Amino acid sequence: MNRDVIIACDFSSREATLEFLDRFPAGRKPFVKIGMELFYAEGPSIVREINARGHKIFLDLKLHDIPNTVKKAMRVLSALDVDMVNVHAAGTIGMMEAALEGLTREDGSRPLLIAVTQLTSTSEETMQKELLIGAGINETIVKYASNACKAGLDGVVCSPLEAGMVKKACGDGFLTITPGIRFADAATDDQVRITTPARAREIGSDFIVVGRPITAVSDPVAAYERCLKEFV
Ligand code: C5P
Repeated sequence: MNRDVIIACDFSSREATLEFLDRFPAGRKPFVKIGMELFYAEGPSIVREINARGHKIFLDLKLHDIPNTVKKAMRVLSALDVDMVNVHAAGTIGMMEAALEGLTREDGSRPLLIAVTQLTSTSEETMQKELLIGAGINETIVKYASNACKAGLDGVVCSPLEAGMVKKACGDGFLTITPGIRFADAATDDQVRITTPARAREIGSDFIVVGRPITAVSDPVAAYERCLKEFV
């Protein structure tokens, strides 16, 4: 799997998203992430439109429901012809297996299926006190990643700082998709467990997901090229 930079298109409308993508030169088609905000605002048509423009798409909807519901939902997402989708590993191995089954097309092809372990917004304290998960956060992340691996998934979303331990537990071929990326000389915003594109590469990330350092600066194309240069 080739390393790549995925731009988090956290915009609330089709217009804002396409205006942003139009800033890139004709031959430059970055891998983009479409999340809940844009998908709920614009529906599947925005996915088809960005797909038709030649971009690879990570559809970040983080499914988490009973296995049968997730399987059927994945069948629908699979028909959208995106490159990557995800579920919460907390849905259990059974749910992840059902997701994989729903996602797999008749010819055996399917988008990559990635699991969210513990959200990077969840602290160890919150996890233990509110969710009553007694283990430590790193142990929980490795366990959830191992469950995803056992279910046949392709990888996990995690903090870049956790990518090394996930690889150690699940093998080098198990993908790590890591948000929480900031340039060494830039603002951290609300992200806590962050690192630079270059360091993420050293630790073992396969894909970095970058939002505001690219989308909220005056020259997004230059910021994207800088990410590629540091990471790929
Ligand atoms: O703007 P920024 O680079 O912080 O955007 C990171 C993207 O990755 C956002 O779309 C955010 O929702 C997503 N994400 C994250 N941490 C996770 C999972 C997803 O930051 N654990």
